[in-house]
Amino acid sequence: MISSRIIGLGHHVPENIVTNHDLSKLMDTTDEWIVERTGIHQRRFMNPEKDTVANMAAKATRMAAERADLKIEDIEFIIFATITPDYYFPGSGVLLQRELNLERIGALDIRNACSGFIYGLSVADQFIKTGMYKTILVVGAEIQSTVLDLSTRGRSTAVIFGDGAGAAIVQASQENGRGVLSTHLHADGRFAEELYIKDPGSSRPQAERQPEQILDTSTFKVHMNGNAVFKHAVGKFAEVIEEALKSNQVHVEDIDLLIPHQANLKISKFLQASLNLPDEKVYNNIMRYGNTTAASIPIALSEAWAEGKINPGQLVCLAAFGSGFTWASALIKW
Ligand code: COA
Repeated sequence: MISSRIIGLGHHVPENIVTNHDLSKLMDTTDEWIVERTGIHQRRFMNPEKDTVANMAAKATRMAAERADLKIEDIEFIIFATITPDYYFPGSGVLLQRELNLERIGALDIRNACSGFIYGLSVADQFIKTGMYKTILVVGAEIQSTVLDLSTRGRSTAVIFGDGAGAAIVQASQENGRGVLSTHLHADGRFAEELYIKDPGSSRPQAERQPEQILDTSTFKVHMNGNAVFKHAVGKFAEVIEEALKSNQVHVEDIDLLIPHQANLKISKFLQASLNLPDEKVYNNIMRYGNTTAASIPIALSEAWAEGKINPGQLVCLAAFGSGFTWASALIKW
């Protein structure tokens, strides 16, 4: 029986650190407000001279390949999760393929926001289990700093998000009982407009799509109904983790490490309390990076692994919730 194992993890974040104090110079906010409501102290914002979604993803991939002792040429397929692609089209998957000098291999783009990495991992797992590919790269990368309204008008959204990239190399394994045990994917499109960017959307009539016709450019920035997102997130995170445990006949006490998508530290803490998990079993790094959407889980995985918190034989649970709404979980026997 073939299973899929994550054999290498890497991440890359822009050098530019933006603290809450830095944001308070751009908008009416304070370090105290941001820390109390979100747990975030700082995030990284791209440098336009240096960083692109595809090149950050390439750096994360190289770190993952090096840690796995794998040659980049051994990657057979790319799955790229991002909601902030370098271009409107084509997706950033092909740009990453070019950055990595990989010729001809397929590249699939996934736009499932904060759940994008788990959706991508699920696709990789199925491709590996059917024997289609042996080695797949799954990345999540975002540059969100350029789609935030960094004025007081956008303060309730802008303080949350950051930029970065994370990568996982997933490989076929014959080792019984190890690897991705299951993935669980959900969506509820009724809430699409609770967290979204409208433009440049194809639903506008042609006349309205001329840049000079668009007087209110706020539709090009992230819109979020924070209260609605918060309310749904806490319920769905718990539900989808429960689903993963149940389908593998394990219990919450069996989890060695939970990596929740880094949406807001309050959401993670609420979830931890509702599952009754001790601090050492829940990994958070939102304090340093903010919410990096599709990149958040692979960055956290990469850091947790480097800190020695993920070891062979351990049970790792990933869970995400975000725009769509979409939510997902994965249970992995490392
Ligand atoms: N600094 C200071 N004050 C701010 C502020 C900021 N950055 N942002 C909003 N405020 C103000 C509001 O204007 C409001 O003031 P008022 O009471 O005078 O009208 C007050 O703070 C409360 O605003 P509210 O939006 O109700 O705050 P909140 O407690 O819901 O916190 C979020 C806002 C965004 C932190 C919170 O809703 C949240 O984390 N939601 C989930 C977001 C999330 O996880 N998104 C990603 C999903 S993947």
